[in-house]
Amino acid sequence: MAISPKQLDYLRNSNKSFNVCHGSVSSGKTVITLYRWVFFMADAPPGQAGMFGRTRESVKSNLWNVLKDREFFGDLVDEFQGNPLSGWVKMFDREVRVMGANDVNAEMTIRGATLVGACVDEITVLPEGFFKMLVSRLRVPRAQLFGTTNPDSPNHWFKVDFIDKINDPVKPLPGWTLWHFTMDDNPGLPASYVAQQKAIYAYGLFKLRFIDGLWVSGDGAIFDFWDPAKHVVKHADLPLMRRVYAVGLDGGLSSASAGIWLGLGADNVLYFFDEWNWTHSKDRAGLSYHEQAKLFVKKFNQPNTLGLRKADLKPRWTIVDSAALDFKRALRDNGITNIGNCKKDNVLQGIGVIGSMLESRKLKVSDSCIGLINEIPGYAWDQKQSLVGVDAPNKKNDHHLDAARYALMSTQGDWLRDMERNR
Ligand SMILES: Nc1ncnc2c1ncn2[C@@H]1O[C@H](COP(=O)(O)OP(=O)(O)O)[C@@H](O)[C@H]1O
Ligand SMILES: [Mg+2]
Repeated sequence: MAISPKQLDYLRNSNKSFNVCHGSVSSGKTVITLYRWVFFMADAPPGQAGMFGRTRESVKSNLWNVLKDREFFGDLVDEFQGNPLSGWVKMFDREVRVMGANDVNAEMTIRGATLVGACVDEITVLPEGFFKMLVSRLRVPRAQLFGTTNPDSPNHWFKVDFIDKINDPVKPLPGWTLWHFTMDDNPGLPASYVAQQKAIYAYGLFKLRFIDGLWVSGDGAIFDFWDPAKHVVKHADLPLMRRVYAVGLDGGLSSASAGIWLGLGADNVLYFFDEWNWTHSKDRAGLSYHEQAKLFVKKFNQPNTLGLRKADLKPRWTIVDSAALDFKRALRDNGITNIGNCKKDNVLQGIGVIGSMLESRKLKVSDSCIGLINEIPGYAWDQKQSLVGVDAPNKKNDHHLDAARYALMSTQGDWLRDMERNR
């Protein structure tokens, strides 16, 4: 394996008690941290060592599976034994604790312990109390922590209480060192992958954070570049859809439900080309999921074909929030097949992809998507949350945007491949 100068510098100089890599996605932080961890464990002082992440599963997939990769560690992988999901593994015949910060009582469990070594994945997604407890447990001579994180909000506790203090020119936090990585510091990335990531995170907050690796936060309107003159197309002017990937559906009983259709036009541009919605209003009684599903199916079977060929308009997937079990059942009962799930947890990434694709004009919206077009300008970062270091959209009017996000994110692999092929 080739190693970049930044990675080499980290290997050589991560000799303080606490050694942290932060920066862009896929910049080689985790791989080099694991190399360092292996060197550390080969000659660690006696005592308890541990590998930590959000869950044991994430430790397994992000750290352990890399350690077990012969491409990186050759025959050393035979020195790494056990199953991280059990909570313990062995490195060089020494027991290493594996813990998810979300495990029940995780903080309690380490409270009384003394640790000599810690390898920590994605620090910003750990609870603050857990990480600070972990730091306080590494107090014997030669104890060391090796950790990585992607940047988050500038008000995030790890930025305020650690990064800023480590970087303080007058009185830097003793015992800590920091390395900043960008994709250029990863010699293993194919140029096509870098280009793809840069295209996906092409604008604003998302570019600054994921590509440039900076701790920045959102302020005001999320899609602040939105301009209907550039991003909206008259329905009658839409090109034929080459492929219709999905209709994303966001369902609710008390407020509103929305569906957004996603397709790839003959011009190799993605389109949110049609929508369905139901709104709860004061003068109308609410509708059960079954009744909503009936209305949706009517639209599903008779799409707005103005300017489009009807035969091509059936979506391959109907994507619903994975938690919406009742809605899914109602859809199935009404004859919708190929129902897919979208997880709720990656909202930020989804917003990033929608924004970047719109901004770079690879995604446009039909003027028949009235609900979506109405929501976009008012979709804003939640100021209150931002002050405590959390990025979140304010959840006021976002049903159409959620539906659009489900459709786009669940089929990302497919449309990326198609757009690449048609270029
Ligand atoms: N020096 C290297 N040589 C080859 N591949 C590398 C190297 N460093 C990292 N990679 C690969 O690049 C990808 C991203 O690296 P990773 O360390 O996971 O990045 P990060 O933790 O910064 O997101 C992974 O697939 C990893 O295996
Ligand atoms: Mg990583």
